[in-house]
Amino acid sequence: CEAHRGALLHFLDDPDNEPDPRDGSLDYFGDGLLVVLNGQVLATGPAEDLLPQLPAGTPVTDWQGGLILPGFIDTHVHMPQLGVMASYGAQLLDWLQTYTFPHEARFSDGDWARAEAQRFTDLLLAHGTTSGLVFCTSHPASVDALFEAAESRGMGLTAGKVMMDRNAPDNLTDTTQGSYDDSLALLQKWHGHGRQRYAITPRFAATSTPEQLTLAGRLAADHPDVMVQTHWAENTGEIQWISELFPERHSYLDVYDHYGLLGNRTVLAHGIHIDGRDRQRLAETDARIAFCPTSNTFLGSGLFDFRTAREAGITVGLASDVGGGTSLSMLATMAEAYKVCRLRGQTLTPWQAFYLATLGNARVLHQAEQTGSFRPGRHADFVVLDQNASPALNMKQAHSHTLADTLFNLMILGDDRAIAATAVAGEVRYCRPDGATVTAPT
Ligand code: GUN
Ligand code: FE
Repeated sequence: CEAHRGALLHFLDDPDNEPDPRDGSLDYFGDGLLVVLNGQVLATGPAEDLLPQLPAGTPVTDWQGGLILPGFIDTHVHMPQLGVMASYGAQLLDWLQTYTFPHEARFSDGDWARAEAQRFTDLLLAHGTTSGLVFCTSHPASVDALFEAAESRGMGLTAGKVMMDRNAPDNLTDTTQGSYDDSLALLQKWHGHGRQRYAITPRFAATSTPEQLTLAGRLAADHPDVMVQTHWAENTGEIQWISELFPERHSYLDVYDHYGLLGNRTVLAHGIHIDGRDRQRLAETDARIAFCPTSNTFLGSGLFDFRTAREAGITVGLASDVGGGTSLSMLATMAEAYKVCRLRGQTLTPWQAFYLATLGNARVLHQAEQTGSFRPGRHADFVVLDQNASPALNMKQAHSHTLADTLFNLMILGDDRAIAATAVAGEVRYCRPDGATVTAPT
């Protein structure tokens, strides 16, 4: 085995259920040890207790007080949209037409798709993200490219081929039957292949014919352990368009419901402009929402109502939605989520934010037995955060005394500079290029 030493934090349960999360929903060791065997967590605990128990000669990496957390999980992100980030001056539908569809069309070139998939997985790791639920493009080769890149880095991703057979340029749309055949073939090839899992991925109701949604629903029914991902209720213009395309359905959610696409394996990105009836149906079906705050503010989509969703019993995950989103960093995503909540008169505690980005998102993806915490037997996917990574963090840490302060500083002031290292299945796959492990406080 081998071990990693540092401050160690992971969640055992949703901190919302406790007045003080240290009562039982999290474990924290100021000087902790993560013991790894064959890529999996063997034990965690105080270093002083565990070090003497290690077999002689066990390698111990000392992260010098850096904060070791389970690797971040992103519940909604687009592999082919790195180059779309920071596209100027548009709301959703114009943004898709002007920037996103032309860019995604480039992925018909397999060499380009492979190069971008490698950039994407490397960037995820550089931001401390070790797993997630990912959109590829409509081109099957983009899915092969992503899973191959993930596999070669030891990462486990859940991803799928975008199904879109109308209302997009010809060089991006697929065909109704072709999208079914390609999705089924990719599912059979990749679902359960090592750590990889397939996701049935109709882009959103506006770019699928009723026939395509029917086939997506059939795939979901035939494969009850496969995730379904799509977009929902992001933008008011989008919602108006859906009501024109599906006049026979009483709501946007009813479109997905009608075609058999709602269940506990479903992750709907956004869910901003929704009502009590929608929330009730989500709670009944246990379909999940991916809250994408940097995308929602950047595209001017609206402010997700986090508290009301939670009170309605809906499972909510946190996601970057790059390239509508402006950062792959789950720390930056937490900061934006906090601000969206503030604009709605709500607060997001640092406990909630870090829970969401780790165990909470693992639960959204039905992966909590594999990732999201350091319970024994989980994959040893972890990130080492440097609380003093930037001048601002270093300054603020000098005035901070509690774990809650440190976590809040990291989520509000932190970004990719705070990622000292990222490991997948016990292997360090990213180290900050300055070679530093963790910056000593000054
Ligand atoms: N709705 C349909 N496609 C997309 C997309 O690529 N990004 C976002 N944010 N919303 C969408
Ligand atoms: Fe998206």
